[in-house]
Amino acid sequence: MVSYKELGLVNTREMFAKAIKGGYAIPAFNFNNMEQLQAIIKAAAETKSPVILQVSKGARNYANQTLLRYMAQGAVEYAKELGWEKPQIVLHLDHGDSFELCKSCVDFGFSSVMIDASSLPYEENIALTKKVVDYAHQYDVTVEAELGVLAGVEDEVSSAVSHYTKPEEVVDFATRTGCDSLAISIGTSHGAYKFTPEQCTRDPKTGRLVPPPLAFDVLDAIMEQLPGFPIVLHGSSSVPQEYVDMINQYGGKLPDAVGIPEEQLRKAAKSAVCKINIDSDSRLAFTAAVRKVFAEKPGEFDPRKYCGPARDLREELNKHKIINVLGSDGKA
Ligand code: G3H
Ligand code: 13P
Ligand code: ZN
Repeated sequence: MVSYKELGLVNTREMFAKAIKGGYAIPAFNFNNMEQLQAIIKAAAETKSPVILQVSKGARNYANQTLLRYMAQGAVEYAKELGWEKPQIVLHLDHGDSFELCKSCVDFGFSSVMIDASSLPYEENIALTKKVVDYAHQYDVTVEAELGVLAGVEDEVSSAVSHYTKPEEVVDFATRTGCDSLAISIGTSHGAYKFTPEQCTRDPKTGRLVPPPLAFDVLDAIMEQLPGFPIVLHGSSSVPQEYVDMINQYGGKLPDAVGIPEEQLRKAAKSAVCKINIDSDSRLAFTAAVRKVFAEKPGEFDPRKYCGPARDLREELNKHKIINVLGSDGKA
């Protein structure tokens, strides 16, 4: 058993309370390798933003959980080296799909876990979430749960159709599970194709797709039911057109990729939404930079020469999110 406290990590409890009070949101950035972690920590340290390092089941399989634990511990020390005296860093399991996986992460030094039982029937979601909460809380590890289903076409955590969270269920769910935060469905989804062209309109000037707005009425109704309760938004990448264009310019193929407009995320961040998940945008930035190097320097084969620029572009993106979208800079 390794306690996250020994690794210098923190859980989400105080962080979320402050974010709700202060009208900003904490960035939850996914990582799978060293360069991605470096980019996140540099961005957070330089902006003094609390940050959530997210590890999915796939990332854990890819990187190895022992290595991940030491990477997270190293991230805390690296942040201090960068001049961040008291780093506010959470190590979080993203989309845990079983009690065993969540338990293993609690036992291995994670400070927060998500149990995503949103695809199960309501009572089963409650039972599994409560089981994880009861275990995690013994070690002061915080738990994110999910109610409602996100649509998406790209990854294993998505469903073909979305079902908005039902505001009338949230009090019962939060009370009976004891979860610390709740991921909700209000129209976001995972990946770089959040809406089909049919769901969008087209900007007549640019020809770009304009997505439909998020269901802020559902968010408002949830906040009315659960005043001050931490709400989480998954699938919150904006799919910046500049990265999509760069990828396409240098040999990629991402037609009609579309995300959540930044102004909608800014609005959400000011509410009880206190954790905003971003993965796809970071992937796009990284890939765009790698493609550019490969296209411009076909003779390059030193990984540092393409992973380095990719890391730097991702750091720039992560800083932009912190400062211009979530407003978490200077809060740690
Ligand atoms: O929500 C899913 C995250 O983007 C992680 O994706 O399962 O491919 O690591 P992944
Ligand atoms: P995006 O695919 O929109 O970046 O969402 C990531 C996410 O929700 C991770 O859990
Ligand atoms: Zn997610």
